[in-house]
Amino acid sequence: MKILRSIEDTRATVQAWHKKGETVALVPTMGYLHQGHLSLVKIAKENADHVLVSVFVNPTQFGPNEDFDKYPRDFEHDESLCNQAGVDGIFYPTKELTYAEDHSTWVQEENLSKTLCGVTRPIHFRGVATVCLKLFNITQCQVAVFGRKDAQQALIIARMVRDLNVPIKIIKAPLIREEDGLARSSRNKYLSKSEHQQALALSRAVFKAKKLFDAGERSSSVLLDAAHSEIDPSGGIIDYVEIMSQRALRPIATITEPALLAVAVKYGKTRLIDNVFLEV
Ligand code: PAF
Repeated sequence: MKILRSIEDTRATVQAWHKKGETVALVPTMGYLHQGHLSLVKIAKENADHVLVSVFVNPTQFGPNEDFDKYPRDFEHDESLCNQAGVDGIFYPTKELTYAEDHSTWVQEENLSKTLCGVTRPIHFRGVATVCLKLFNITQCQVAVFGRKDAQQALIIARMVRDLNVPIKIIKAPLIREEDGLARSSRNKYLSKSEHQQALALSRAVFKAKKLFDAGERSSSVLLDAAHSEIDPSGGIIDYVEIMSQRALRPIATITEPALLAVAVKYGKTRLIDNVFLEV
């Protein structure tokens, strides 16, 4: 497995593959890899000849009071997991490599990024879209895989690729959970034991609503009440519990088109998200 620390090395590696007519799938990550990331790698392997994983804690997607400095990092662990998973290369850039000191060009998706996490994290998706386009340009990948745990992010990247005619196939991969139901996230590491227990309310909430939906319930308020009945008593501070259309990420009263039930709740200092896709 190659460790690629420069844009030049990354491009040369990919160009050699392309010359042989071989394709590349990228799994963009911020490192501290877990089973959720490995499930993306597996899908990437099924969809291209080579898999690159980028590991970069992207500063431009963190707000001033967010956890950029303490975001967990463990490159040795990431390297060993990627090795075991049969990844062909890790692109491991530094901030200096990725943003010029006078960087002044941004990718701003103007619609999907205004709701859900975009309300309390106003610069987040601009940073995500910008870094993803940079990673696509650097790695020249044909496929990129994003987890549905960050459902809004995956929808925004797919929209960006469509709107800007980026010649890449975006694959949205299933959300992976811990055995007790908690959605896998590098941030779960911040939770104390009791916060972890409290946070199980999130998966209970989305499962409860999904069960009602599968039984034919189409009223968003009924489904949201069901989700709230799990989350409200759990002791978390709710950022949002919403049902939105997948197309526009705007609230819908009755589910007559593909929708997303999404929740964001803070337990202690840790803000967690979870969701379920409601496919009509
Ligand atoms: O989902 C993440 O880990 C990040 O937002 C991403 C896509 C790697 C961009 O920094």
